[in-house]
This record gives sequence, C-alpha cells and structure tokens, in this order.
Amino acid sequence: MRKIPKICVIEGDGVGKEVVPETVRILKEIGDFEFINAEAGLECLKKYGDAIPEETIQTAKECDAVLFGAITTPKPTELKDKTYRSPILTLRKELDLYANVRPIYNFYENQRFSNPVGGAKHFCSDNNIDFVIVRENTEGLYSKREYYNEEGEFAVAERIISKKGSERIIKFAFDYAVKNNRKKVSCIHKSNVLRITDGLFLEIFNNIGLEYNKKFNMEFNDYLVDATAMYIIKNPQMFDVMVTTNLFGDILSDEASALIGGLGMAPSANIGDKSGLFEPVHGSAPDIAGKGIANPIGTILSAAMMLDYLDMKKKGDLLRAAVKSLLEKGFVTPDLGGSLKTSEVTDKIIEHIHKI
Ligand code: IPM
Ligand code: MN
Repeated sequence: MRKIPKICVIEGDGVGKEVVPETVRILKEIGDFEFINAEAGLECLKKYGDAIPEETIQTAKECDAVLFGAITTPKPTELKDKTYRSPILTLRKELDLYANVRPIYNFYENQRFSNPVGGAKHFCSDNNIDFVIVRENTEGLYSKREYYNEEGEFAVAERIISKKGSERIIKFAFDYAVKNNRKKVSCIHKSNVLRITDGLFLEIFNNIGLEYNKKFNMEFNDYLVDATAMYIIKNPQMFDVMVTTNLFGDILSDEASALIGGLGMAPSANIGDKSGLFEPVHGSAPDIAGKGIANPIGTILSAAMMLDYLDMKKKGDLLRAAVKSLLEKGFVTPDLGGSLKTSEVTDKIIEHIHKI
C-alpha cells in the first residue's frame, strides 16, 4: 500500500456525476489521497465508442482502490450490440472482484419517528436492522453464457456455479463474520429447484460451515431465497451475514435497502484478492439526474468502506458517525423526506468532521 493511497475515480453517468465528486470533496477534508479520474459508461460509449476503455481498466488495476458512481445501462431493446456488457460487470471480472459486500444497517433507533423534517414514511421500517449480504460477484447467471439454440426457437442462460468460485465466496463470508464479530452465516439458495447448481453451493457451504463452527463457534444455517425475500420484510433481525449467488444477491440487496431508507442509503464494496471497488447500490437515476438532489449517503458510506479497506478504519468510523449525526438531525435529501441538496448534505458532513 502506498503512503498516499491512489484512488481511481469513475463517476459514470447520471447522479454518479453528482454523488461521486461530493464524496471526493469529503475525502479531501479527511486525509491525503491522490485521485485519478477515469471514464466509463453510456456517455463514454457515445464519446469513444467504448463504454469502458482499456485505459480505465488499467488505471483501476494500478490504483489502491476504485470509487465508482453509477452507470446507465441501455436495455437490449435500445441497443443493437447484443454482446454489450455493463462496464461495472467488466470491472468486476477484470479485477476479479469476487465478493460483493452489502451491509444493511439503520443508523439510529426510531429513525422513522424522530426525523424532524417529516415526510419520513420511506425512512426506515424498523430498529436494529444490521445484517450483511455477501454476494458472489463473478459467476452464476452473470457468466455471460447466453445464446439461442440453433433453430432460434429458444434462448438459454447458463448459470455457472463453480467449486472454486463457491469456496472462495463462502470462505470470504465466514472470514468476514469472524473478523467483524458476527455470530451467524446463512446460505441463501434455491436448491429445491436448482438441485445441481445450488445443491453444490449448499454442500460447499455446509462443509465450510462445520469448519468455522468448530474453530470459531460460528453458527451457520440456510434458507430458500423466496422465503428469505419474505423474511427480509417480516423479520430482518433474524439475519446476520448472508452469503448467496450473484443474481439472488443482486435482487435481495435492492429489497433490503428499502428497510434502511431506500437505494440512496445502501453502500457496497466489491472485493478481490488484489483490488477493491466501492460503489453505492443505486443506479444512475436518470429521473433525478442533474437536479442536485441525489442522496450522497450511499456513496459516502461506500467511501467509508473504502477507508476500512485501506486500513484507515478510524477515518471510516468518522464518516459513519457524521452520517449518523445528519440523519438524527434530519439533514437529508428529498428521498428521505428532507429538503437538502446533495452539496448541502456534503457541507454538513464536512462541518461535522471539522467539529470533531
Ligand atoms: C448492481 C447493479 C448491477 C448488477 C447492474 C448495473 C449490472 O444492479 O450493482 O447491483 O446487476 O450487478
Ligand atoms: Mn443491483
């Protein structure tokens, strides 16, 4: 690790161009970093005919971490090139970022009732929500093995569940649980139908679970993904660390973000053995892009995860404490019932940091 960490900054499209620069502004206040901008996304595609130029991939590989905003992905009905792949998927693959860590955490008790700004019905559903989704990030239904049969009568998507891929993500989830004083790891699957692929994933999970149970007294169990979708709403406190395959993790993490105020609040870390990329769970939000009202908290909390990754946990904690304080005071953007602009939230965060 360099003394002054080198951060590759990819703003992307839409609100990515708003929340990322605001987060960089905060980072500049709390430490020394070297920021290197790189391009990717739909705008980049229009400009260079390439949604993710090789140069961007190289910069991302060379830096100590990547801070990523959001990207507009055209639907297949809008784009002739059927082999198009979202740049974030290319980065996950190229940097082998096999673990996608998505914490679902509400910052203070009674968040829903004490937001003085009012209009808080979307704010938070419950107290004590604190679990982490660990999503496999390189295979499953994201393996890009999709095709028509020869006669063109049907289309197939292959769902790759490899032994190596499953072992490393499951081990990652257990190690994460041990390191973060978590008590339980749950495997989320659909092995009652996907008997071979998820059967394999579950079998590997149970073997590794036994090891960690013996060594660290870690609890482990498993749930079907459909039931999990219901329990996330009904009883989210039953979860601690979840580990799951790529698409299930994608869907469950959007669902779970609704418990903590919506997509604007949810951070994520994409971790590999050599690189880390940090991004909010939300997309480019074209409906509000350019208005200066996007919630920057998902990106700020992703930056906090980046600081943890860079061995600057104290600085990460400082950011999280600042976010908590803002939420308590109701200094939030319209999606949370507030009236602050993106940059005003950042101003308040910086103010809070300087006070400490
Ligand atoms: C996410 C996003 C991506 C995904 C899209 C943009 C390709 O939804 O990070 O959750 O499906 O993984
Ligand atoms: Mn998603």
